[in-house]
Amino acid sequence: MRYLSTVILSLTFVFSTVGHVKAEADREKLLKEAGVYATFAVFKASEQWWHVEPHTRALATTDVKKLLTTYGDKLTADMYLLRGLSERADILIRIHSKEMVHNQNFLVDMMATGFGKYFTQVNAFNGITKALNYVPNFPDELKTELKTPPPQGSTYVVVVPIQKDAEWWTTSQDARIRMMKEHTDATVAYLKTVKRKLYHSSGLDDWDFITYFETSELSDFNNLVTGLLQVKENRHNRTFGSPLLLGTIRPLDEILEILAR
Ligand code: HEM
Repeated sequence: MRYLSTVILSLTFVFSTVGHVKAEADREKLLKEAGVYATFAVFKASEQWWHVEPHTRALATTDVKKLLTTYGDKLTADMYLLRGLSERADILIRIHSKEMVHNQNFLVDMMATGFGKYFTQVNAFNGITKALNYVPNFPDELKTELKTPPPQGSTYVVVVPIQKDAEWWTTSQDARIRMMKEHTDATVAYLKTVKRKLYHSSGLDDWDFITYFETSELSDFNNLVTGLLQVKENRHNRTFGSPLLLGTIRPLDEILEILAR
């Protein structure tokens, strides 16, 4: 598989010459801990960008790399290619940091670079990572299943923002645990091929959750979602996607090279 050897790109430490170990440790923590703020920023290149000379475009992309180094101690950012799979957008940048203001500062500075000024932001989703709400009440067997190691080096990324209905939030915790157990039972067959991460967005965005997935098996992902659409909890999904983002996970240099072509 072409991208198997490519760990999801850590923009932070690929280009950082100092603080390498620290940046790496921070990234691991930022991707794992609760209380981390995430921003999903989606951009589309303007028509002018494609008329700029390829050499100048290639130079502009180095601004992005420099900026990533500058912010290396504050945040970690991953870039994904949406171009071709979306008519609305070309790139997605997923940022994690301990303060939402860092995410904003990075994006504002990025938009001011020779690269960023040619890109229009078409979406921004904000969320925070939290401790598990339902899993602690699941049976031990299911808890053990959930420890199945997720796939590494996946080719695709999928992001689905979700808004629940008012009834979900007024339903008792016990009834929600039952529904989330049913949700989880429908997913265990996909633990080996789908990696997931959940962000809570109520009050920080129009959404309640931003769900993030990595997989190399889009047919599994399609079956997984079809299965989840059949459980009771789905009746409480007022908005599911719209927009849903599908893209590929590639090294930063490859994405920038594609955008400079
Ligand atoms: C391998 C696939 C999946 C697994 C193993 C899985 C498992 C889980 C688990 C265990 C929880 C409860 C977390 C907690 O205790 O707080 C959860 C929550 C959630 N999942 Fe999934 N899930 C998967 C796929 C999906 C998909 C495809 C979607 C929708 C696109 C989704 C949407 C959600 C949402 C919105 C929540 C939060 C519900 C809430 O806190 O009210 N999940 N999932």
